[in-house]
Formats: sequence, C-alpha cells, structure tokens
Amino acid sequence: MKTTFSIIKADVGGCPGHSKVNEKLIEVANKMLRDGKENGTIKDFFVTNCGDDLELIMTHDKGENNEEVHSLAWNVFKEGSDLAKELGFYGAGQDLLKDAFSGNIRGLGPGIAEMEFTERKSEPIIAFMMDKTEPGAFNLPIYKIFADPFNTAGLIIDPKLHSGFRFEVWDIKEHKRVFLNAPEEMYDLLALIGAKSRFVIKRVYPKEGSLPEDEPVAVISTEKLYQIAGEYVGKDDPVAAVRAQSGLPALGEVLEPFAFPYLVSGWMRGSHNGPIMPVSNKNAKCTRFDGPPRAIAIGFQLKNGMLTGHEDLFDDPAFDYTRQEAERIADYMRRHGPFEPHRLPLEEMEYTTLPKVMDKLRDRFEPVS
Ligand code: 13P
Ligand code: 13P
Ligand code: MG
Ligand code: MG
Repeated sequence: MKTTFSIIKADVGGCPGHSKVNEKLIEVANKMLRDGKENGTIKDFFVTNCGDDLELIMTHDKGENNEEVHSLAWNVFKEGSDLAKELGFYGAGQDLLKDAFSGNIRGLGPGIAEMEFTERKSEPIIAFMMDKTEPGAFNLPIYKIFADPFNTAGLIIDPKLHSGFRFEVWDIKEHKRVFLNAPEEMYDLLALIGAKSRFVIKRVYPKEGSLPEDEPVAVISTEKLYQIAGEYVGKDDPVAAVRAQSGLPALGEVLEPFAFPYLVSGWMRGSHNGPIMPVSNKNAKCTRFDGPPRAIAIGFQLKNGMLTGHEDLFDDPAFDYTRQEAERIADYMRRHGPFEPHRLPLEEMEYTTLPKVMDKLRDRFEPVS
C-alpha cells in the first residue's frame, strides 16, 4: 500500500511581527483540514507552526502534486490570509505570491515536501520545520543522517544501511539536478552541498537493500521565494520529511545532527547568519533579533495512511545543552552587528536592501588610480 506524506507550509501572517502563528490561524487550518478529512480529500492531518510559518502535515493516497490536496492547502492559506488581514496580523498573506490556484501549489509561494512510498509494517516518520532560514539549511543534517558514520552508527554496523544512500541535489539557480552516491562520491557531494545557498539536497533514496530504490526516504522543500517573486519577500523557511528505522537510520540517528547548533542564513530580515536552535513547538517563536533561527521536529507513526501517534521530539532536556550553546553563538554573532559574516555576503544580499543603497550612491563613486 502506498501512502503520500505531504508537508505544505506558508507564512500567512505573524502575531506579533514575524514571531509566531496566532492560535486563531491554527484553528482555521484545523477546521478546514478536518473537513478535508471528512470529505475524503486527505486521510489524516496534523497542524502546527514553526515561528510564523503555518505547517500543514497531511497523509493521503493520491500521490505527489495532487490537485485536490494542493488546492485544500491553498484554500487554508487563503482563508488564513483573509483572517490575518482582518485582524491586522503582520505580513498577512506574505508567502502567497500569486492570486489564483491553477492545479498545483508549486511556484505560488508555499513550501512543499512530499513523498509517496510503500508503507512498512511500522513506519516512523519525522517532520522537520524551520523558521528564519533557507532550504540549504537542511543540507548539513541530511548529509550527516544518511552519509556520516560519525553520526549514523548504522552505516557501519547495520548490513541494511551499509551500502549507503543516493542523493538528489538541485542547483536552485540553474534549475538542474544531479544524483550522487554516498559513500562513493562523498567528496563531490560535499563540494556541492557545502555551498548551501545554491546546491540543495532535494531527496534521498535507498540503494540496493530491503527498500524500493525508486521511493524516497527523505524529502526537503526547495522553494526560493525571491526567485518566484523577483525580489525579497520573506525567507524560504524550509520543511523536510525523513523516514526512520528498519533499514534506515534510527530515530536517534535522525535527530542527532541537531545536537550541533550549526550556522544557517536567514536570521533578521533574511540577511544574517546565526545558529539553528532545536526547540519544542511551544518555544518555536522567533523573538531575539527575530530569531535565532529555529527547528522543530514532530515524529509520527504511520499506519494505513493514518497518523497513529506523535511526539514533539525536541521538547527534551537532551537538547538543553545545544540550546545553551546556540544562545552563546547567537550572542557572539550578534556582536558583529552589520559586519560579515553575521551579515550575509554581498552576493546573497543582492535581493534584499543593498541594491537600493548602491543605487543611491552610484553617482558619488569616483575612480581611484
Ligand atoms: P532497527 O534496525 O529496527 O531500525 O533498529 C535500530 C535500533 O536499534 C535503534 O537504536
Ligand atoms: P519570515 O520569512 O519568517 O517572515 O521572516 C522575515 C524577516 O525578515 C524576519 O526578520
Ligand atoms: Mg513572516
Ligand atoms: Mg517564517
């Protein structure tokens, strides 16, 4: 039996500022997805938020890019935007870049991570959601989960994982993709994905083993808002879904990379680098300097397309030390103020406010010999 697991997200308005999704918008989403479940559009759902991003987690048997499912998500975001406008929430409708839905939500602004696969007897799956960062922020943890034996012990000691995984990497500037095998092409893979603002891991596939080789085991949203809108309109806060156990990395191996508060871009006005902080849903509100960037992880068990149980996985003292370290790094980075590398490098600022400053000063630049 094949199940599709879809995470579709959008920022339809924050309260206050860009900090958080208000409970009233969560209520709208829950009501509309409940209706969608009752009328058979989806099988099951879970609504949550990471910072100011409204996250719709849905299961169904309709495959990827299904018009009915995407249209349901679009309608939730539309309805949410309308309410956000009415209540004066900040940046109401921020991520809805087009007015009309035409068959597919891709290219309209929301972020999408969805995958269709054959359910195993027991199917643990983790939904990761981030705020104040970009799709490339998932490169480091996804690499560690599926290719780094210092993270994933199973790569060494579990015969089912020993052959490694296949990575689908997108060049999001040139709109091309390449498939690379780990461990064989590990250095080529790292050469690309280390440049995380351009090369982004889109999917991971199993190699020869117990699982179908054409069914993904992880998927990441790769939408770049500024590429759709032609100017900076907000950050492309990403989401990902990762399957675990029985021939795949164990749940704890999937979570382990987040014990390191690595640096990501997207903090404050989408223009600063800062540490990613793994937090519970309750603490997924971006306060200090609109951050620091946050990640949440909700783990599910799937059975016959139903979400039979869930857990807020970073709601755990095991990540307290990481959070403290993230705070220290946040403080260290903040002390740089407008200087790189806290502020993003020039190339990445091109779509924010810097061109306007350059325009203003253009005539005042003089040649120097
Ligand atoms: P599975 O092989 O069943 O995924 O178990 C791995 C494990 O023991 C996790 O620690
Ligand atoms: P969001 O993309 O999460 O709305 O954040 C925008 C921003 O500029 C926060 O400082
Ligand atoms: Mg926002
Ligand atoms: Mg956001």
